[in-house]
Amino acid sequence: MKTIVAYFSAQGHTKKLAEEFASQIGADTFEIVPVEPYSAADIKWTNPISRCNKEKMGKKDVPVSGKIENFDEYERIYIAFPIWYYAAPNVVNTFCKDYDFTGKSVYVFATSGGSGIGKTAEKLDPYLKGAEVASAQVVRSAEEIAR
Ligand SMILES: Cc1cc2nc3c(=O)[nH]c(=O)nc-3n(C[C@H](O)[C@H](O)[C@H](O)COP(=O)(O)O)c2cc1C
Repeated sequence: MKTIVAYFSAQGHTKKLAEEFASQIGADTFEIVPVEPYSAADIKWTNPISRCNKEKMGKKDVPVSGKIENFDEYERIYIAFPIWYYAAPNVVNTFCKDYDFTGKSVYVFATSGGSGIGKTAEKLDPYLKGAEVASAQVVRSAEEIAR
């Protein structure tokens, strides 16, 4: 079964886990990179007018650089990201909207500062055309990820 791990990571934690997991299961990877990368100031959530707060409040789309080539070939898609405001960052929603997930198995994993997975999968679902999330978890190590 052909698998891809698509991940967004602003500070490196999710990237490290996602790359490690992908190499363990022999999956391809795609890094979800915003067209305008996040600076340290952009993700300062304690500042009410920082970029991350404006994006979340305005439910803004965050354009992504590049696309997954041959998306149709993948049967199993992992989507990974840091929990931002008890949900997936807006850039992940924007990424998901671009694809048709019909017939694919979608798994979600996230890193967080302490929050659980909560309603993260339900909030992501409207952006996943044709598929529902099969499993969603907050993890601290690659070994914990459903496979
Ligand atoms: C804008 C922003 C919002 C965040 N919101 C939450 C949150 O709601 N709950 C939580 O436990 N951690 C939250 N965090 C912490 C991140 O989820 C955590 O540090 C994560 O591991 C970072 O992953 P990364 O290094 O791949 O970017 C937030 C971090 C940022 C920058």
